[in-house]
Amino acid sequence: MKGSQVKPMSKSPLRRCLLAGFFCVALLLSGTAHAADVARGKRLYEKADCAKCHGPRGRGDGPVGLTLEQIGKSPGDWSDPSTFKLDTDKDGKAGTDRDLRNVIKRGALVFGGSQMMGPTKGLNDDDLADLVAFIRSLATR
Ligand code: HEC
Repeated sequence: MKGSQVKPMSKSPLRRCLLAGFFCVALLLSGTAHAADVARGKRLYEKADCAKCHGPRGRGDGPVGLTLEQIGKSPGDWSDPSTFKLDTDKDGKAGTDRDLRNVIKRGALVFGGSQMMGPTKGLNDDDLADLVAFIRSLATR
């Protein structure tokens, strides 16, 4: 019963309907302003030399990061997202995407953090979103 009745239907209207649905979803996804790109974020991270402090995987174990740790100014370990502590927009939540973007762009000092985390010039909104996506991808907890 199932086979004989559903099969002819699945040929055209149902299939067309599914296809249309698929294209709608694809269109919606591609229509969002910017889908953050982790791989591009990683390249930017390498280009801007963030790793010399934060380490290749954001563990805070870059050569300069290790020195900072010794003097009690550790860049933190991003495998645990609770390490983010600056609430740049004072919304009561530290370490939101917006907080991370603000810190990367303007540095930590203006938000009461360490002057070692300096501002980074020449990053547009897409760059910042991709960097944050990469940083988020390093979380293991
Ligand atoms: C000279 C060392 C150094 C470099 C280079 C550096 N950082 Fe940092 N970064 C730090 C330190 C130290 C902190 C901790 C700041 C604090 O606790 O006040 C930090 C904190 C952060 C934070 C977390 C802020 C929070 O809320 O705790 C983010 C995100 C960040 N850095 C991203 C980056 C990115 C992206 C780059 C490269 C564009 C970069 N950093 C380059 C030293 C560095």
